Amino acid sequence: GPATAACPVSARAEAFDPFGEAYQSDPPASLRWSRDEEPVFYSPRLGYWVVTRYDDVKAVFRDNILFSPSIALEKITPVCPEATEMLARYDYGMDRTLVNEDEPAHMPRRRALLDPFTPAQLAHHEPMVRRLTREYVDAFIDAGKADLVDEMFWEVTLTVALHFLGVPEEDMATLRKYSIAHTVNTWGRPSREEQVEVAEAVGKFWQFAGTVVEKIRRDPSGPGWMPYSIRLQREMPDVITDSYLHSIMMAGIVAAHETTANAAANAMKVLLENRSVWEEICADPGLISNAVEECLRHNGSVAAWRRLVTADTEIGGVPIPKGAKLLIVNSSANHDERHFDQPDELDIRRENAGDHVTFGYGSHQCMGKNLARMELQIFLEELTKRLPHLELVADQKITYLPNTSFRGPEHLWVQWDPAANPERANP
Ligand code: HEM
Repeated sequence: GPATAACPVSARAEAFDPFGEAYQSDPPASLRWSRDEEPVFYSPRLGYWVVTRYDDVKAVFRDNILFSPSIALEKITPVCPEATEMLARYDYGMDRTLVNEDEPAHMPRRRALLDPFTPAQLAHHEPMVRRLTREYVDAFIDAGKADLVDEMFWEVTLTVALHFLGVPEEDMATLRKYSIAHTVNTWGRPSREEQVEVAEAVGKFWQFAGTVVEKIRRDPSGPGWMPYSIRLQREMPDVITDSYLHSIMMAGIVAAHETTANAAANAMKVLLENRSVWEEICADPGLISNAVEECLRHNGSVAAWRRLVTADTEIGGVPIPKGAKLLIVNSSANHDERHFDQPDELDIRRENAGDHVTFGYGSHQCMGKNLARMELQIFLEELTKRLPHLELVADQKITYLPNTSFRGPEHLWVQWDPAANPERANP
C-alpha cells in the first residue's frame, strides 16, 4: 500500500514475526536488536511500523490525535469470508468503546464513567477480592501442587471483573472460552478453520453481552460499573450510546479479566524464577507493592498496543506517512536501558519502576490499573504468607496463546510440601 512504497526494509525487519517463537517467549528480548539499531521499523509481514524504544513509545501514547487509537481492537489478521459470515449470523457489531474511541467523543465518556475506578470506590471491593483469594488458596493448599492459572488466577480475576462490572455471575467456563476467542480474534493469527470456530464463539459472546445489557436495563439500580453507566445514559444519551454499552459489555470483561489473570501469572513466574526476591517479599510483605510494580514493568501482561497515524509525521527521526499502522511494543519500552538501569534485572527497589508503560500512557491510560494492582497485591500477600515454600515445577513447558498483545502463561504449575505449610505449625 501507499504506506510502504518508499521504505527500505532491513533483513531483521523483514524477518520480524510477532507470532514466532522468539517474540512469543520473550517480546522485549526478541526486539533488543531493534532498540539498539533500528528502533522504528516497517514489518512487511505484519503491515505495521514497529516502535520499540521507551521515549518513542511514550511519545506515541502521549498524542492521541496524531496517533489515533481507533485500530486498537481491529482484527490484526484479516479474516476469511466464512468467518465474516459467521460473525454476521450473530449480528456481531463490536464498535467503539473507550480504548479505541477518538476525540472528541472519548474524553467526555471517560470522565463521565471514571468515578467507580477511584481509590475510594475500589476500596469497597477489597474484602471481596481477599475472601475469594483465600477460598481459592484453601481449595489447593493441602494438595502440594497446583496450576495457579487454572486453579486460581483465571477464576478469581473473572469473578472480580464480573462483580466490578455488576454482571451476574454467569457460566465461568463459557466466558473463559469466549474471552480467549476474543483475544485470538483481535490479536492472534488463527488458521482458516480456527477462524470460523473463533468467530462462532465471538458471535456468541456478542449475543451474551447484549442479553446482559438488556437484563441490567430492566433493573439498573444495582452496584457495578455497567448499571452505573446505564443509569448515566439517561442523562447523557449522546455520550453513552447503545452501541458503546453493548461493545463495552463485551470488551470490558476481557479488559478487566484476561489482562489481570495474565499479569498475576507473569508476576508469580518471574518472582519464583528470582528466588531471593521471592524470599525477600515473604520476609517483608511491606515490599509487595513495589514488587507488583516491578513485575508489571518486567513481565507485564499487555506486550504491545496499536495506533493509526493520522498525518505525515516522524517518530524517532523516521518519517512515517499518514495512514500507517503502528505496533507500539510497550513491553520492549519497559526493557529499554535508555530509561531503566539494568532493565532485565528484577529489582523491587528500582526507583522508577512505576514509569513502565504496561497500562499505556496519557489520555487512554488504563482506567482499571488500580483494581488490577489491588488484585495483584492481595494475591501476593496471601501466597507469600500461606505458601512461602512454593516453587515452580521444574520441567514444565510454559506456553503462551499466540497473539501480539495479551501475554501470560496458559498454565503455571507450582509445588510445595503441604506438611511444611506455616498454618499447620500455627493453625
Ligand atoms: C485501557 C492494560 C486491567 C479497564 C488499557 C490499555 C492498556 C491496558 C495497555 C490501553 C492504554 C492506552 O491506550 O494508553 C491493562 C493491564 C491490566 C489492565 C496490563 C492488568 C494488569 C484492567 C482492568 C480494567 C481495565 C482490571 C477494568 C476493571 C480498562 C479501560 C481502558 C483500559 C476501561 C480504556 C481507557 C481509555 O481508553 O480511556 N488497559 N489493563 N483494565 N483498561 Fe486496562
